[in-house]
Amino acid sequence: MATPLTDFIHDAREGLARPPRRLPARYFYDALGSALFEAITVLPEYGLTRADARLIRAHAAALARRLPRRVRVIELGSGSAVKTRPLLERLARGRALAYCPIDISRAALERCAFELRGLAGVALRPIAAGYEAGLGRALAGRRRGEGALLLFLGSSIGNFEPEAARAFLRRLRQRLDAGDLFLLGADLVKDRARLRRAYDDAAGVTAAFNKNLLARMNRELGANFELSGFAHEARWNETARRIEMHLRALRRQRIRIPAAGLAFTLRPGETLWTESCYKYRPGELRAWARQTGFKPLAEWRDRAWPFTENLWQAAEA
Ligand code: AVI
Repeated sequence: MATPLTDFIHDAREGLARPPRRLPARYFYDALGSALFEAITVLPEYGLTRADARLIRAHAAALARRLPRRVRVIELGSGSAVKTRPLLERLARGRALAYCPIDISRAALERCAFELRGLAGVALRPIAAGYEAGLGRALAGRRRGEGALLLFLGSSIGNFEPEAARAFLRRLRQRLDAGDLFLLGADLVKDRARLRRAYDDAAGVTAAFNKNLLARMNRELGANFELSGFAHEARWNETARRIEMHLRALRRQRIRIPAAGLAFTLRPGETLWTESCYKYRPGELRAWARQTGFKPLAEWRDRAWPFTENLWQAAEA
């Protein structure tokens, strides 16, 4: 399931009509955007995914010790699940395992099935949906006595505004049973030059990922964006502790988005704000756990690329 066109039209109309012009980051992930994101994850400058994968591998056994003999592993925004495979391999030892990858992109789920081929003892149940609808479907298929391990990796939580992130975590908790486990990956604040390079890489992959949003509006909404008229920009906002991704107009442009009934003029230097990537302080998410109905059990940290894996348990209501 792709994001419905009606949502895209609505969000383009709401977000782009007047400055500050913004679009929700979820529209990055059409088939091409998902493939570009997979390329970002292997960029030398983007250490985030490798840190996530290292932590998962290093702590898979500790996680396994906390799980019952029958478990449903549910991953929000699985992508190709390359980094999840070693965890599934470890958890499947001596255990009946169902794995429900949830992703908005069918192409990503096809890659996921390919990456997990030959994985013994894991029943694969892909779900093409948004996070919350997908989680509802994954849990509806749950068997009696089956535990749940929810995964939200790669610091995707950082793409939510903090208030929205906490509200989202609360809603996740409401869908889970007390005792279920939740593993949340979160990127930490680090040297600003390092962060800026991670979001403005030398090969220009992140720039292509950002500009694909314009190309997507051209393809799906009949818009007339000229990609050469925009520059990719990644800014570090020290106060808010986030990277902000923008597309900056290089010249005056008359933009038309017929499907959204929009026409507006961009001044040179004006930007479309396409994404925020929040970075956290060590320990910061422990307070979030308590505020959202979880009990923090462990926080594992990568030293080479400061990043944390937070293991929480759904608390009694
Ligand atoms: C998916 N998400 C966690 C990525 C991030 O780092 O915030 C998206 C991304 N945007 C640019 N590069 C990567």
